[in-house]
Amino acid sequence: MAVVEHKILGDQRGKLVALESSINVPFEIKRVFYIYGTQPGVPRGQHSHFETKQYLIAVNGSCKVTLDNGSAKETFLLNSPNMALFQDAMTWGEMHDFSSDCVLLVLASDYYDESDYIRNYDDFLLEVSK
Ligand code: TYD
Repeated sequence: MAVVEHKILGDQRGKLVALESSINVPFEIKRVFYIYGTQPGVPRGQHSHFETKQYLIAVNGSCKVTLDNGSAKETFLLNSPNMALFQDAMTWGEMHDFSSDCVLLVLASDYYDESDYIRNYDDFLLEVSK
């Protein structure tokens, strides 16, 4: 679990970061969503996925992400549009400390499917210990 720094492209006109499915994003991208307008002090996520992998980028503003694989927990700060965090399947994730201007872009390896979610932490701990 580590933050990845993507190469910043562009020129005197401005900056650009390019993300390519299965090239510099570690899976085939099937879905993109973004979280914004998060209210102060409100965490998001607080779930794991059985199969879905995610790639998180604060394209504006900043937030923190705590990842927990059932035995180790680590908190990462995303505060630059060229930084990305990979969240593997079977990893509990919580996004928190959103700046008011934060737009958190999430690339996902699967289409939305509620049955892929584990929303209860005790159920997650049971599943990872199997
Ligand atoms: P939720 O998973 O609770 O958001 P977060 O993890 O950011 O706290 O999702 C909020 C709502 O949006 C919930 O009703 C499910 C729905 N949703 C979709 O329909 N498609 C998606 O791709 C996602 C991520 C959520």
